[in-house]
Amino acid sequence: MIDPIAAAAFEALLARRGGDLLLMIDRDLRIVRAGPEAASLAERDEPSIIGMSLIAAFGSAAFDAVARHAVTLGEAVAGEADLGHLGARHFAVDAVPLAGGGVVLSLHDITALRRMERVRRDFVANISHELRTPLTSIKLLAETVSSGSVDDPATMRDFASQVEREADHLAQLVDELLDLSMIESGETALSLEPLDPEAIVADCVIRIGPVAERRKVHIVRRPPSSTEVRALADPNRLGQALLNLAHNAVKYSHLGGEVRIGWEALEDRVRFTVADDGIGVSEAHQARIFERFYKVDRSRARTRDAEQLGGSAGLGLAIVRHIAEAHHGAVGLVSEEGLGSTFWIEVPSAF
Ligand SMILES: Nc1ncnc2c1ncn2[C@@H]1O[C@H](COP(=O)(O)OP(=O)(O)OP(=O)(O)O)[C@@H](O)[C@H]1O
Ligand SMILES: [Mg+2]
Repeated sequence: MIDPIAAAAFEALLARRGGDLLLMIDRDLRIVRAGPEAASLAERDEPSIIGMSLIAAFGSAAFDAVARHAVTLGEAVAGEADLGHLGARHFAVDAVPLAGGGVVLSLHDITALRRMERVRRDFVANISHELRTPLTSIKLLAETVSSGSVDDPATMRDFASQVEREADHLAQLVDELLDLSMIESGETALSLEPLDPEAIVADCVIRIGPVAERRKVHIVRRPPSSTEVRALADPNRLGQALLNLAHNAVKYSHLGGEVRIGWEALEDRVRFTVADDGIGVSEAHQARIFERFYKVDRSRARTRDAEQLGGSAGLGLAIVRHIAEAHHGAVGLVSEEGLGSTFWIEVPSAF
């Protein structure tokens, strides 16, 4: 039996509490009263959950243990449990025993918090790795020179240019990270204006020119589908996104390949496309390559070819995705491994 005063207090709490899920159980761990959210977490309705044991209703041993502990100890116990469909949601659980027997259980959803913690841990691990690799090279090269074991000027020059390349790589990485964190935090306000898609493409073709030349890749402008349309976008950000796509297309092309840059008008959007006939992306990787630090082939990403084009951090596409999302647009690709890829970014049209 639950003390009537405690039961009334629980009802008052249930009526007031917004965020957290509440349950009341008796000393045998059977549910006496449950709020609607708690019932739906157990994938049942309110009446049918009453009288069920905690373990039968929620199927979580961890949840059951917290409640059991509170009953046996007669004092408040805190814990955590995975609940909901397939245990997909993570909760902080507080079990508070009542004077006349029974326990009040309060559940606070910390799924998002845990996910953010994991993302941050991964981020720190990735960034440390990306910073350490060029730093290790620089340190080794410097050590070799300072130990006096290299004395011919040609080798010395070669070492110096390797240090320079690694330093450039580090600088690029820092720039990309700053960009990404600014776009992600929404700190960079977009200055939207109607833009001529032709001008955006022309600008990109000019900017990618020197990089393409080094890889002997031909840049081709695809003819426009119409001349009337304007894109509603931030010229710098959209330009940066398209350049990132073009940069990838060149980097992952075969020597002497062709990259086609163009645009088309869709119903209420403008889609910019960058197509290459390079290495392509297998279906298994397509869903993930827009994540930050994601690279299809880590060893390939550090080949000499890639190095000459500024290394590879796996941040470029994450930046493109964020730019697209900031415009309420989208990104995507069509690709076949070994045959090539077409990446696209869409932004709203102005009219
Ligand atoms: N056009 C493409 N063809 C084949 N693979 C690609 C292409 N573009 C991207 N990828 C794959 O997607 C991964 C992620 O691309 P992203 O631009 O984010 O990083 P990155 O080019 O490796 O490094 P960064 O752009 O930070 O210098 C690449 O490492 C590559 O494996
Ligand atoms: Mg890239």
